[in-house]
Amino acid sequence: MKAIGQRGLGGPDVLETIEVPTPEPGRGEVLVRMGATSVNTVDCKLRSGRVTFLGPPPFTVGFDLSGAVVKVGLGVNEFATGDAVFGMVHSRTGTYSEYVVARADSLGLRPPGLDDIRAAALPTAASTAWQGLAAANLRAGERVLVHAAAGGVGHFAVQFARQRGAYVIGTARAVNHEFLRGLGVDELIDYTATDFTTALDGVDVVFDLVGGAYGQRSLQVLRADGRYITAQESDAVADPRCRKITARPRPAELVGIGELAAAGDLRIHLDRVLPLNDVALAHTLSESGHSRGKVVLTPWE
Ligand SMILES: NC(=O)c1ccc[n+]([C@@H]2O[C@H](COP(=O)([O-])OP(=O)(O)OC[C@H]3O[C@@H](n4cnc5c(N)ncnc54)[C@H](OP(=O)(O)O)[C@@H]3O)[C@@H](O)[C@H]2O)c1
Repeated sequence: MKAIGQRGLGGPDVLETIEVPTPEPGRGEVLVRMGATSVNTVDCKLRSGRVTFLGPPPFTVGFDLSGAVVKVGLGVNEFATGDAVFGMVHSRTGTYSEYVVARADSLGLRPPGLDDIRAAALPTAASTAWQGLAAANLRAGERVLVHAAAGGVGHFAVQFARQRGAYVIGTARAVNHEFLRGLGVDELIDYTATDFTTALDGVDVVFDLVGGAYGQRSLQVLRADGRYITAQESDAVADPRCRKITARPRPAELVGIGELAAAGDLRIHLDRVLPLNDVALAHTLSESGHSRGKVVLTPWE
């Protein structure tokens, strides 16, 4: 089968299409024919060596998966061949592959009405958004500030925050404001023109998807009893109001999110959909730091 591999660490040009044996599902695993995957920041960080939890190359990156079960391993009762599934998959083969071995308990059934491309946009980004707001225990009537509101995680977070009945403030460049108003954001700050620390105070929750020095600056606008949630390294992690989150695969939660999308209650914005032939371009777009919504990858053309 085809996969995207890399022999060294570096820029998007280290990504190459390689031929590897199709893996066999072990006990508790299924083999999925990939219908779509999506680019997450962590894929780019692994590719370049800014994070190293896959060990040294060669390896194949990718965690988001939507596709069809083609083979079922021993002890798997929840899925059968032909099932449409999706999930956040910590696979030994990576999801930038024609076929992916996944633990059955990391997958959910893809709701009818949600295609592979939109389903593949959800797992990491929407789970991070969902779990971040749950960690904040964001309640109706509260004011939440979402940094990087127009990104993959952010555009889901602002919608979930609205669904919780919160007043939503987002940081984004002006070019993204109309898009974000369409998602229900109440107040927008163009961070290139206005310092959010002078524009806001008394915020109940900050959901920080930028991190770094945004941490301490976010604490300046937060209530004394507010909650600061970050999905990034941040200079505010020592503050007692801070919680740093890491998205976990929770298939039942993800299926619920997928059902919201299938019902039209969650918009999935696709910045670009590219075949894996164009994986380097997909990573370049993601690493620009200004993609809107998600960049999704489909199998080789
Ligand atoms: N902990 C976890 O489990 C976890 C999981 C997923 C993601 N993350 C992290 O969460 C962050 C967001 O991920 P993502 O996938 O949403 O990234 P993304 O899609 O690449 O984010 C792109 C967005 O960031 C916005 N942005 C860039 N600089 C900004 C700034 N200074 N202020 C406000 N907005 C800014 C851009 O908006 P403009 O074009 O308007 O600038 C763009 O829409 C990443 O750092 C990622 O590593 C963590």
